[in-house]
Amino acid sequence: MKFFFRGKSIEAKAEDTIAAALYRAGQRIFSRSFKYHRPRGLLCVSGNCPNCMMNVDGVPNVRTCITPVREGMKVKAQNAFPSLETDFLSVTQHFDRLMPVGWYYKTFTHPAMWHAVEPVIRKAAGLGEVLPTLPAKYEHSWMHTDTAVIGGGWAGIHAALAAAERGDQVVLIDDQPVLGGQLRYRKAAGELPAGAIARLQNAAGVKILQDSSCFGMYEGNLLGVLQRNPNEDTTERLIHLRARHTVVATGAYETPLIFPNNDFVGVMLSTGVQRLLHLYGVVTGKRAVVAGSPPDAEEVSADLRAAGAEIVVIVDPGQIVTALGSCKVEGIRTSTGSFSCDLIVVCGPRVPNAGLVAQAGGKLQWSDAHRAFLPADIPGNVSAAGDAAGDMQPNAASPLSRDKRAFVCLCSDVSGKDLCDGIAEGFDQIETLKRYTTATMGPCQGRMCQLPAIGVCAHETGRSVSDTGVTTSRPPNPSVTLGALAGSSHHLVRRTPMHYAHEELGAVWMDMGDWKRPRYYKRNTGAQEKECVVLEHKSVREGVGVIDVSTLGKLDVRGKDAAKLLDIVYTHRFSELRTNQVRYALMCDQGGIILDDGTISRLAEDRYFVTTTSGNLDFVHQWLQWWLIGTNWDVHICNVTAGYGAMNLAGPKSRDVLRKLTDCDLTSIAFPYMACREAKIAGIPALLLRIGFVGETGWEIHCPAESAEELWRALLDAGKKFDIQPFGVEAQRLLRLEKRHIIVGVDTDALTNPYEAGLGWAVKLDKKDFVGRALLSRAKEHQARESLVGFVLKGTGLPKDGAAVVVNGQPAGRVTSSRFSPIQKAAIGLAWVKVSEAREGTLIYVRVDEKLAPASVTMRPFYDPEGLRLRQ
Ligand code: FES
Repeated sequence: MKFFFRGKSIEAKAEDTIAAALYRAGQRIFSRSFKYHRPRGLLCVSGNCPNCMMNVDGVPNVRTCITPVREGMKVKAQNAFPSLETDFLSVTQHFDRLMPVGWYYKTFTHPAMWHAVEPVIRKAAGLGEVLPTLPAKYEHSWMHTDTAVIGGGWAGIHAALAAAERGDQVVLIDDQPVLGGQLRYRKAAGELPAGAIARLQNAAGVKILQDSSCFGMYEGNLLGVLQRNPNEDTTERLIHLRARHTVVATGAYETPLIFPNNDFVGVMLSTGVQRLLHLYGVVTGKRAVVAGSPPDAEEVSADLRAAGAEIVVIVDPGQIVTALGSCKVEGIRTSTGSFSCDLIVVCGPRVPNAGLVAQAGGKLQWSDAHRAFLPADIPGNVSAAGDAAGDMQPNAASPLSRDKRAFVCLCSDVSGKDLCDGIAEGFDQIETLKRYTTATMGPCQGRMCQLPAIGVCAHETGRSVSDTGVTTSRPPNPSVTLGALAGSSHHLVRRTPMHYAHEELGAVWMDMGDWKRPRYYKRNTGAQEKECVVLEHKSVREGVGVIDVSTLGKLDVRGKDAAKLLDIVYTHRFSELRTNQVRYALMCDQGGIILDDGTISRLAEDRYFVTTTSGNLDFVHQWLQWWLIGTNWDVHICNVTAGYGAMNLAGPKSRDVLRKLTDCDLTSIAFPYMACREAKIAGIPALLLRIGFVGETGWEIHCPAESAEELWRALLDAGKKFDIQPFGVEAQRLLRLEKRHIIVGVDTDALTNPYEAGLGWAVKLDKKDFVGRALLSRAKEHQARESLVGFVLKGTGLPKDGAAVVVNGQPAGRVTSSRFSPIQKAAIGLAWVKVSEAREGTLIYVRVDEKLAPASVTMRPFYDPEGLRLRQ
């Protein structure tokens, strides 16, 4: 097999990983470190450290030591310029004394200084480069099983076999291509249980997932599993696996020793050396010094000797003074002398790989006997087996170092001295120390550095390791590509019933979730978006326009207890809503945070028609059902979104248009604002809601989906005389902004309550109970910190959504929506500001095109503040 590395063809054997083939071909430097750009070579060869990450076929940060070679693949170095061997940014290591922990916070204390250096730092920082498109393909799948076993070593094989023999359905997840775990490369640990493996492979009800990592355990024993190369067409598959019982048999992994220059190329973990030797036939050095205690040091020494390497000396880890060389190992200095070598093999402490047990709710407790954190208080639906459960030989004590070049965290170049400095500055709890120094927060997620970081913290603070504690294990670990999380790249496309009519009219499409919606209509080939939107806006304000709103969520809620349910779930009161009336509907969670809004129309004593925002339909549907559970109430909720088309006819001439198509009395006396009627329009049965999102006389018309296009065309025909224009989402957003109507999720966020958003009028605290009432009562009594206000920009320009608001030179809020208003002849918008600024006429500054532009706050709608036009 052949693949390409930096454009050169590299030979590989059938079972090779990329790293094994490159090492055999003479490559020694595999990456550059994150902060100082120090050269790094293979260390663990098990996917646990950051040292071998490269760009493979366009995918960044691929661990080459566990990635099998595929014919023709293209491999590139990353994070190094111009090459791995010569990286200009490695000059930073000579200034390491000027870059202590907390360097940014200590140095760039003035905003101007930070703004000056930020672009440079951002360009230099980061690992790898994300391309806009990738050839990689991803998919998701879902599985259920009685027993999930994680780990394909001796303990995992026997746990899976035992479960299969009791009749369980079993899924075994192994991150290696072949079962056997450490027995495959540690000959002294025992024979491969070939008989047990064969029995397991032939057992009924057993599925074995090779090359698969379990990256997280979630609520209800849901396991996240990432499978590499599940088939020829797929790069990665994310499996959602639900198991009744999970056995964590993930073994233990080896971690580095801490001594000066312990990151040199040529310093390798003993298990890494054994993996390369026994799995790929690669001997990692000619003259090796082994640092470790028996029996591990003797085991790896014997393996290397048998492969023809010279063992210069075996040293106790406590004797190491420093590794010698410039960036590659040339020797080692110990308390007994200096030795020349090209490989330092370190036999580091083994850490039970029990993070999944902690994620499942178990604890990790320090064992003085094992010198390791072992799982304890494991929940009933999980168990641990083998090394992961602490069934391993005890670790020897490991020396610590306060040297600036003794790296504890290889991902972020955090040394023993950095940790000591952090502790001296007051960050003496392991969780704060971790965040201050960034140790354990890089790609290895603490696998290599958690234990020594805890050791340094305990030593410096005088606390025991047990009292120092362990950092929290959170998924995903190991890391998961964003592509795998996103899944396959084919997306659902939903078209409204009038889709093809819009196409004929020159619709320019936009995506809203799965839906295709006309953003605006291109009247002629040369027309620009701005002039089309202005024309559509004008037609609604001065004549009549029509927009397709079929994407609104629609729920039919029936039953004699329907009113009770809506009163509980929405903040307004719907039991008192009269038949044929419509009311604005606001939904909050238990914390009083806005979840969704829409309208509710009462069509009969026991029947309501509920609309939701386009994107929240499924959520609202589930939320209503959730609050119905266990009530025994007579309520039936049916999602009728796909069954109805909907359009909004709006503008001062909308009544004239509609009159031509219906016998329904449309006068404001017979059909007032916020009323609803069932009537025939152009012979088609329809539900008409007299509401006005865009601020003009108008009707939202819902009709059976199969007749919606016919009704749409009938409205356009009837409106020809009045120069009716279809309008798109962009004009609708401008029209609603002029009325200061909010869009949930655009103008609100995950912390917004109705009082801050100016929707307090829609909250009826005099109702006995409803979801969110308790916290909304408190929110009403305590003054909000922020308020959503309108603003009119003085001068030219248009702030972007999210632009900063500044008052007295200090950040004071953010813009959520803004558009140029032809009515105001100025840019208008909505913004979150401090309550102290939420007064009519307050002067604020808004960032526009990198400058600050003055704007004046308004608390009233920009257009028709009394709402007279709606009611005409
Ligand atoms: S050498 Fe590949 S992850 Fe450690």
